[in-house]
Amino acid sequence: RADGLSELLLSRIRDVPDHPEPGVMFKDITPLLADPVAFAALTDALAARCAELGATKVVGLEARGFILGAPAAVRAGVGFVPVRKAGKLPGATLGQAYDLEYGSAEIEIHAEDLRPEDRVLVVDDVLATGGTAEASVHLLRRSGAAVAGVSVLMELGFLAGRTRVEAALEGAPLDAL
Ligand code: PRP
Repeated sequence: RADGLSELLLSRIRDVPDHPEPGVMFKDITPLLADPVAFAALTDALAARCAELGATKVVGLEARGFILGAPAAVRAGVGFVPVRKAGKLPGATLGQAYDLEYGSAEIEIHAEDLRPEDRVLVVDDVLATGGTAEASVHLLRRSGAAVAGVSVLMELGFLAGRTRVEAALEGAPLDAL
């Protein structure tokens, strides 16, 4: 996207070199969160996407997906359901393991908070390798809910995460604001 919203959002994302380790350029969204105009514009855009896609729930991915997804859900008038790293949710969980560059990770959801008739918009801050978003899409399908789409604040295009997430989405849209 190349419009006023993207320019505003990009201008509030801080590049932090060598964090959390040498050679990594960290994309810090805290300046965006601290700016009420930019944060509201992002929230409105995500809520609009929710409405366009007919989503009935927002699912946020730990941890920054919670910060972005929860206000968007409230603004859109739909519920919010967190996808957490394994071991955090207290109730009966549905889990999905996925591979990392070294090792593996697992995410979980309280599937009882989703209904078979739900259409879910998945929200996160960054799409990098796409592993987290791809695993979330598979997890949501297994929960019985439909995935309306994935919306992220930013996509690190050079990591080609889009290809794998689009394959998992089976035609539903992936957009980066
Ligand atoms: C980051 C980011 C995404 C994910 C993207 O989360 O917020 O959720 O990584 O990476 P991927 O596309 O390669 O899967 P992180 O694991 O750092 O968790 P945090 O938000 O809890 O710090």
